[in-house]
Amino acid sequence: MDAPPESIKLVVTSPPDLSETPYTKWNQLFELYRITVDRCVRALRSDGIVSIIVTDRKWKGTIVFKHQRLATLLDGMGLEPFLHKILVRNFGTNMFRLGFSHILCFRRRDRSRASKGTCLRASAEFRRDVWGPFASVGWGQKTRNSFAPEAVKLLVEAFTQPKDVVLDPFCGCGTTQRVALGMGRQAFGFETNPGLARFWSSIGRPAE
Ligand SMILES: C[S@@+](CC[C@H](N)C(=O)[O-])C[C@H]1O[C@@H](n2cnc3c(N)ncnc32)[C@H](O)[C@@H]1O
Repeated sequence: MDAPPESIKLVVTSPPDLSETPYTKWNQLFELYRITVDRCVRALRSDGIVSIIVTDRKWKGTIVFKHQRLATLLDGMGLEPFLHKILVRNFGTNMFRLGFSHILCFRRRDRSRASKGTCLRASAEFRRDVWGPFASVGWGQKTRNSFAPEAVKLLVEAFTQPKDVVLDPFCGCGTTQRVALGMGRQAFGFETNPGLARFWSSIGRPAE
């Protein structure tokens, strides 16, 4: 996956869980995150935004803080977080975070801007879920891994103009592309699961 430099205005993505890849070790998965995020950042416009929607995960008794891993990766690539929303399903959820979904937005670090750096405060919002209900994605497949189109719509509305290019490097069944194309943006995605990729390629391309 390589897009030309300075071509992407907005990345919206939810990186895969271990179970959605051929890997068996978290380090292998984090290396995939690193390679993919690096390619996205290389193609990002100087005023571009990377938005990540991610839910942490319990794995063999410990919590894997995927959102922190991703924040550290992006920090190392010269991006700073400027928005962090935690979506919480209900008040009863253990404050220790499983079932929390994070929306993190990053932009290129600008030394002239007073940076809030890693001290960025998260705002919490109560929502049933950012993940959609089981949805049919065609070819007899169903998935619950699609994020809710409303979350993508908010990001596309806030950070792009018509015709801007939106990318989802882990696009699943193409929620990002469907929303962005519907809003008059150009949209591209990458997906390794052939069933889902076929579904995404059927969504079509933006009108000229
Ligand atoms: C959390 S899901 C994304 C769902 C998507 N946001 C949607 O709404 O349908 C992550 C996706 O990444 C895909 N994936 C895993 N490894 C990949 C890779 N190397 N390149 C592209 N996609 C990959 C998985 O098959 C999975 O569909």
